[in-house]
Amino acid sequence: MNHLFNPLTIKSLTFKNRIVVSPMCQYSATDGFANDWHLVHLGSRAVGGAALVIAEATAVNPEGRITPHDLGLWQDEHITFLQRITAFIHQQGSLAGVQLAHAGRKASKSSPWTGNQHLSTNEGGWDNVMAPSAIALNPDTPAPQELTTEQIKQVVLDFKSAAARALKAGFKVIEIHGAHGYLLHEFVSPLTNTRTDDYGGSFENRTRIVREVVQAVQEVWPTDLPLFVRLSATDWVPDENSWRLEDSVELARQLKTLGVDLIDCSSGGNVPVQQIKPGPGYQTPFAQAIRNQAGILTGAVGLISSPLQADHIIRTEQADMVFIAREFLRDPYFGLTAASELRQPITWPVQYERAKPR
Ligand SMILES: Cc1cc2nc3c(=O)[nH]c(=O)nc-3n(C[C@H](O)[C@H](O)[C@H](O)COP(=O)(O)O)c2cc1C
Repeated sequence: MNHLFNPLTIKSLTFKNRIVVSPMCQYSATDGFANDWHLVHLGSRAVGGAALVIAEATAVNPEGRITPHDLGLWQDEHITFLQRITAFIHQQGSLAGVQLAHAGRKASKSSPWTGNQHLSTNEGGWDNVMAPSAIALNPDTPAPQELTTEQIKQVVLDFKSAAARALKAGFKVIEIHGAHGYLLHEFVSPLTNTRTDDYGGSFENRTRIVREVVQAVQEVWPTDLPLFVRLSATDWVPDENSWRLEDSVELARQLKTLGVDLIDCSSGGNVPVQQIKPGPGYQTPFAQAIRNQAGILTGAVGLISSPLQADHIIRTEQADMVFIAREFLRDPYFGLTAASELRQPITWPVQYERAKPR
């Protein structure tokens, strides 16, 4: 039986355990450039025993940033500092991943601690906020511009170029952000996509851009390195005309045939009318359903905060990895904590050996 500290091999990589630092925006970059904050934030969690540390939603083009302070991989100059971060993570026996993202209609906002509000161009925002359809997120946000077919093709190419830079930066895993109401999620959900061309209407059309992004990334991403996709498994809207779990299962099946290795199963974030009832492990059933029905590796995420809970998810085969966000902010050494609590004999960083519980 697998447990939290069993290694997992995907393609040429072996993850030393099943613990993943879930991507978490730090809104601390300038012009997309990483800095000491990102080195310490990501580096500490590698020291803290995670098998995989995934850097935050990293914009594939400037207008695809959520805020002016998102990380970016839209120009070669972004690579150098990221190389320092990935090298440090790898020195700790952890693996470095990056989440490639485009914020769609949720772009051009202020950070959570400065109000989480739409930013006009006068306030440091930008006016080329793009989405599948010109539907505003809420009444006090301007409607985004509907992407033309050419602009869609360019976004796909931007994902590809960012993936090539991620490789040069030393990342070993790419996760494509297809969740939380950002651009790719907006395309797949009929609630945010009312297009009538090849990218709207039928399931095949709405999900086309996701397959195109995956295929474009694979043109530059080595076949022996893992490729993950994060999906919102459901819009949490009781309406047939929304994105539902069965849609996610079908998309996961298709992505598997395209060579995607793991679906990171999150949910919601697309529309304000969503009805979510969060509780411990509330999204884990999505990981289990997609794992069983699409026959693909899955990651569970969402209110997983204790080692026992995380271990139980792996032991009961609900998912293959657990993605942990806020607990890793409370305890950067969650991996070490979990090993002690579950009495797993792991190696501690030699510098910290004297603190290891015996
Ligand atoms: C500070 C913060 C930043 C986040 N940024 C991202 C992000 O960049 N990309 C993403 O897919 N999810 C992001 N999330 C969501 C987390 O990855 C995770 O899915 C969510 O917090 C639920 O997991 P948790 O209960 O362990 O926190 C963020 C969450 C937090 C708390």
